[in-house]
Amino acid sequence: MQSATEKGTPVIELRHVEKHFGDLHVLRDVNLAVGRGEVLVVVGPSGSGKSTMCRTINRLETIDSGEILIEGEPLPQEGRELARMRAELGMVFQQFNLFAHMTVLDNVTLGPRDVLGVPREEAERQAMELLERVGVAEQAHKVPAQLSGGQQQRAAIARSLAMRPKAMMFDEPTSALDPEMINEVLDVMVELAREGMTMVVVTHEMSFARRVADRVVFMADGQIVEEGSPDEFFDHPRSQRARDFLDSIRGH
Ligand SMILES: Nc1ncnc2c1ncn2[C@@H]1O[C@H](COP(=O)(O)OP(=O)(O)OP(=O)(O)O)[C@@H](O)[C@H]1O
Ligand SMILES: [Mg+2]
Repeated sequence: MQSATEKGTPVIELRHVEKHFGDLHVLRDVNLAVGRGEVLVVVGPSGSGKSTMCRTINRLETIDSGEILIEGEPLPQEGRELARMRAELGMVFQQFNLFAHMTVLDNVTLGPRDVLGVPREEAERQAMELLERVGVAEQAHKVPAQLSGGQQQRAAIARSLAMRPKAMMFDEPTSALDPEMINEVLDVMVELAREGMTMVVVTHEMSFARRVADRVVFMADGQIVEEGSPDEFFDHPRSQRARDFLDSIRGH
C-alpha cells in the first residue's frame, strides 16, 4: 500500500458520494480524484450540486454515503481531528468572508496564531509576505469595508494560504465582483496554479478554465456527466447537456 504522502495518492478523493437535502438528491454517485498539483475546474448549471460538492469536501456538509479521503485518509467525523483537517483545505467563496471588525492583517494572522500556534511576530511576517504576493500589502491595516471587492477577495485568498493548505477550493470566487476586478483575482489564482497548488475551482470563467485547468468536470443534476481536458470539453463536448450548457454561457 502506498503511504499517503507518496506521489500518486490523490490529495482529494470522493468515492460513491451520495447526498440528499430532504427529497432532493443533490449528489449522485460522485467519484472524483484530484492529484497533487492538479487544477480541476468544475462547471455546470445552477443547482447542479457544485457548491454542495465543495462543501462536503471539508465537511461543511455531511454526506449520506460514500467516502471522502484527504491524502488517502478518511475525513474525520468531528472534533479536533476534523478542525485540523479543515484547516488543511483552504476555501474561498463567492461572498468575501473576511471578519468585518478586524484588520486585513488580523484576518490573515488569526488562523495561524489560534490554530497553528504561530507566535504573533512570525504570523505577521508571514501574513505580510502573503499580502504582498496577492498585491494588497498596502491594505493590511484597513478593515475589509475599506477595500474593493477584488482586494477583499485577494485578502481572503491570502488568509487561506496562511494556513498552508494541502489544497485550495474556490467556489465562484469572482462571480460577485465588478468586471474590472475579476482579472486581478484570477491572476492570483493563475499564479497559485503555476506554483503547483492543488486546486478545485468552481467557475464560469471559461478563459481561465482553458488557460489553467488540467481537467474540467461538468456536473448536472448532482452527477458528473463529463470530464476531460479543457480543449476536449469546450471544443468537443460529448453530451447534449454539456452542449446546452456551453451554449447558454456563451450566449451572454
Ligand atoms: N442547505 C440546503 N438545504 C436544502 N437544499 C439545498 C441546500 N443547499 C443547496 N440546496 C439545493 O441543492 C441543490 C444543489 O445546490 P448547489 O448550491 O450545490 O448548486 P450549485 O451547482 O452550486 O449552483 P449555483 O451555480 O447556483 O451556485 C440545489 O437544488 C439547491 O437548491
Ligand atoms: Mg454554487
